[in-house]
Amino acid sequence: MYRTRVLAALLAAVSLTDAYELVNGNVSQPTSNAAFNITLADYRLLGYNGNDTRLTHGFVQTDCGANLSVHYTNPSVWGNLTGTASRPILILTHGYPESSYIWRDVTPIVSTRVPVFVADQPGYGLSTACCNSTGCAYDKRTYAQSILQAVNKVYGNVNVIYAGHDRGARTMHRAAVDNNFPGITGLGFFAADIVPFIAEYASFSNPVYAQGYFHWAFLPKGMYFPKTRINSKHVNTPAGEFATDVIMTYGGGNWVRQILEYGQGENTQGIEIFKRGQAWEIYINFFNQLSVTNASVFDYQAGAFTDYDEQVADQNAGIKVKLPTHILYSEYNLGAQFDVQQVWSNYTDPSANLTVKSVGDKKGHFIIEEAPDETVAQLNTFMDRLGVSD
Ligand SMILES: *[C@@H]1O[C@H](CO)[C@@H](O)[C@H](O)[C@H]1NC(C)=O
Ligand SMILES: *[C@@H]1O[C@H](CO)[C@@H](O)[C@H](O)[C@H]1NC(C)=O
Ligand SMILES: *[C@@H]1O[C@H](CO)[C@@H](O)[C@H](O)[C@H]1NC(C)=O
Ligand SMILES: *[C@@H]1O[C@H](CO)[C@@H](O)[C@H](O)[C@H]1NC(C)=O
Ligand SMILES: *[C@@H]1O[C@H](CO)[C@@H](O)[C@H](O)[C@H]1NC(C)=O
Ligand SMILES: *[C@@H]1O[C@H](CO)[C@@H](O)[C@H](O)[C@H]1NC(C)=O
Ligand SMILES: *[C@@H]1O[C@H](CO)[C@@H](O)[C@H](O)[C@H]1NC(C)=O
Ligand SMILES: *[C@@H]1O[C@H](CO)[C@@H](O)[C@H](O)[C@H]1NC(C)=O
Ligand SMILES: *[C@@H]1O[C@H](CO)[C@@H](O)[C@H](O)[C@H]1NC(C)=O
Repeated sequence: MYRTRVLAALLAAVSLTDAYELVNGNVSQPTSNAAFNITLADYRLLGYNGNDTRLTHGFVQTDCGANLSVHYTNPSVWGNLTGTASRPILILTHGYPESSYIWRDVTPIVSTRVPVFVADQPGYGLSTACCNSTGCAYDKRTYAQSILQAVNKVYGNVNVIYAGHDRGARTMHRAAVDNNFPGITGLGFFAADIVPFIAEYASFSNPVYAQGYFHWAFLPKGMYFPKTRINSKHVNTPAGEFATDVIMTYGGGNWVRQILEYGQGENTQGIEIFKRGQAWEIYINFFNQLSVTNASVFDYQAGAFTDYDEQVADQNAGIKVKLPTHILYSEYNLGAQFDVQQVWSNYTDPSANLTVKSVGDKKGHFIIEEAPDETVAQLNTFMDRLGVSD
């Protein structure tokens, strides 16, 4: 999805600046932390929420150390139906380089049918990362457990649907494979515009895909040196976060704008909808924050190591998604690279009854925002299949 011009622009910017400094191998800490605009960041998503059309926005502290920023349908709206199989909690997660705001055109409609729970993933948006006194964790199982614990704290023991886009879909994939968080019963798995880690990295044998997804190789080099090994693979660890330094020197928001521009499709109307509601300004504002860019870099590092290794182990052991599964993807983006149905059939048990649907019209990777109507329609079709009440 992301083309060579991103890298060219990035390298040009870096070579022109003197803000990035190596002193005997020590990397200067990034300084470009643009002012945080809380007016932009403190949005509340729209939804069916009783008297108030806006979802409840709150923070939930979770055991991994993350203080999660969440938007959710107040439990009182559905009363004792909340979280039953007919009114399960629809968990909606977002990807890179974004926040829960990607669901702005979806929550007002789907929340008339089910309670929704929308979280900024740990370290993204207004959520803090999963860190405690001994360190931080960025693997998707930790992310999933953090979000599911927050759901449990808000609603108690409930049925849920795991749904997400991009990195958020990876968190939900982990949740769906495990499906064992205490008090949480998964009914289905809905993922937008991803294939599993293994398939994505395998595609790098084709140079076109390797350069298009270069950030999958670049971001994980989040740490510079000294050299060490994780799970017998050579990686570079502390003394300064390399990718974070490079991106913040270029400008976290500048970087995000490039990613959004190159990942979007070519449908004029889709792009217009995508930018509505100051969406890009909001994402740019977040990624101008060192803490957010830093955490996202480590999200990708976990993807290249812990998450990847866990997926390999699952595949070797034949552990696949058993829940009903629906994959929505962009024909323009993911569909140009993969036979999505064939790839996912290797990661789902026959009992998942995998269904796959593409969105056409040159709508790009940011499918939730470029094609909110199709997204809503697909979520509704999936909920029909799960037996959710109208
Ligand atoms: C790198 O920075 C650390 C912490 O400031 C310092 O202790 C160390 O001596 C530096 N190393 C070199 C090679 O300059
Ligand atoms: C923050 O964003 C709002 C909405 O776009 C804008 O009106 C305001 O001027 C911004 N404030 C600062 C300090 O940039
Ligand atoms: C608002 O909610 C209260 C109960 O929480 C209810 O009595 C009242 O009728 C509601 N108002 C509207 C306009 O729906
Ligand atoms: C979580 O973050 C919110 C917003 O910054 C803050 O008001 C709240 O106190 C935090 N909660 C905890 C437990 O740190
Ligand atoms: C919800 O409460 C109503 C009224 O008390 C009761 O009739 C109904 O059976 C309850 N439904 C569930 C799913 O518990
Ligand atoms: C701290 O976080 C790490 C990584 O998430 C976790 O393994 C460890 O159990 C946590 N420690 C405490 C005391 O919560
Ligand atoms: C970036 O993440 C690393 C790894 O968790 C952490 O040690 C470091 O404190 C973070 N830096 C910032 C500025 O958030
Ligand atoms: C299924 O996935 C494994 C990786 O776990 C891969 O080795 C194998 O080639 C895949 N099979 C098909 C049919 O794609
Ligand atoms: C699988 O899903 C399709 C599409 O929703 C549906 O028509 C079919 O009945 C399902 N089959 C099973 C065995 O659940």
